[in-house]
Amino acid sequence: MFEVKNKNGRARRGVFSCAHGGEVQTPVFMNVGTQAAIKGGVSAHDLQEVNCQIELSNTYHLHLRPTDKVVREMGGLHKFMNWQGPILTDSGGFQVFSLSALRKIKEEGVYFASHLDGHKIFMGPEESMQIQSNLGSDIAMAFDECVENPSTHDYVKQSCERTYRWLERCITEHKRLNSLPDTVNPKQMLFGINQGGVYADLRVWHMKQIRDLDCDGFAIGGLAVGESADVMYEIIDAVEPHMPEDKPRYLMGVGTPTNIIEAVYRGVDFFDCVMPSRNGRHGKLFTWEGVVNIINQRYATDPRPVSPSCGCPLCKNYSRSYIRHLFKADEVLALRLAVLHNLYFYNDLMEKIREAIAENRYEDFRAIYSEKLA
Ligand code: GUN
Ligand code: ZN
Repeated sequence: MFEVKNKNGRARRGVFSCAHGGEVQTPVFMNVGTQAAIKGGVSAHDLQEVNCQIELSNTYHLHLRPTDKVVREMGGLHKFMNWQGPILTDSGGFQVFSLSALRKIKEEGVYFASHLDGHKIFMGPEESMQIQSNLGSDIAMAFDECVENPSTHDYVKQSCERTYRWLERCITEHKRLNSLPDTVNPKQMLFGINQGGVYADLRVWHMKQIRDLDCDGFAIGGLAVGESADVMYEIIDAVEPHMPEDKPRYLMGVGTPTNIIEAVYRGVDFFDCVMPSRNGRHGKLFTWEGVVNIINQRYATDPRPVSPSCGCPLCKNYSRSYIRHLFKADEVLALRLAVLHNLYFYNDLMEKIREAIAENRYEDFRAIYSEKLA
């Protein structure tokens, strides 16, 4: 279920609901727990403290370890990681291309070697749907090819035609799995993924091909893979007018606070990115004044919280001096507190974005923060 509540230009404030959790307020940032845990020692329980609305895990990783069979036997991903809110699983399409070796792409799917031990694996649309069905996520993503950048127009054309055929197979298999009597989550939704590289003509062609297929939402994939932010915005500008108004739009793997503000401005509703957890683990803390590199000497005796207005476990309890010390002393607590802070910031950013849209002042919000947070 998805409903757009207000629009401010192309920016949309909406509500989304699925089989788990209450209403998800959009635009929303999905907090990334690739292997059913958030990197930096953050649990699903902790996610509640940073106001996370929806969690994202990865088909590729969980299929390899502990395997989706194990997760299914443990009652599905919600039970396994003890997170009762919504979960989206990425299809493996992207991870196969970014992590595994010796890939061979064929019409039937992708042959590749595991990044853990090199054993040979095949994944196609049907396998990806079966794994995601075993995981029991609320939203399954279609199996796609995320093409490298740069790639030729010819290659991208062939690839996105195949991704279109893969989506048709995903839909058929997803319907079959949802209707089986012992499915973990028979209400699982499926989002299609737009591809087409940096070629606006292919992007639009592909979007027009998939927009009338039976999907619960549509993602824009294949961006933030090395092209400039301006090219990414141009592609969103080209594709967005062809996306259904009444379904959620998800920009995969994006991005910085500024990227998110700019994409919301262009009509996107869902986001995910490893940036808050990855940057946090390197001592880079997001604040409304910009990024603070907490390892800097200037914070050695700074008694203030990282961000006085922040309600996260780090800012509520500890000084800049203390968190800097934890990083310098290689304490794992440093990583945990830094990641909690950054996730809190991203979830707070989305709340401020939603307020601005609801109050019809998103242009002003964008004018202030798009540059300030860059
Ligand atoms: N995550 C970031 N980009 C992509 C993409 O193009 N496809 C998939 N499946 N996941 C992504
Ligand atoms: Zn904080």
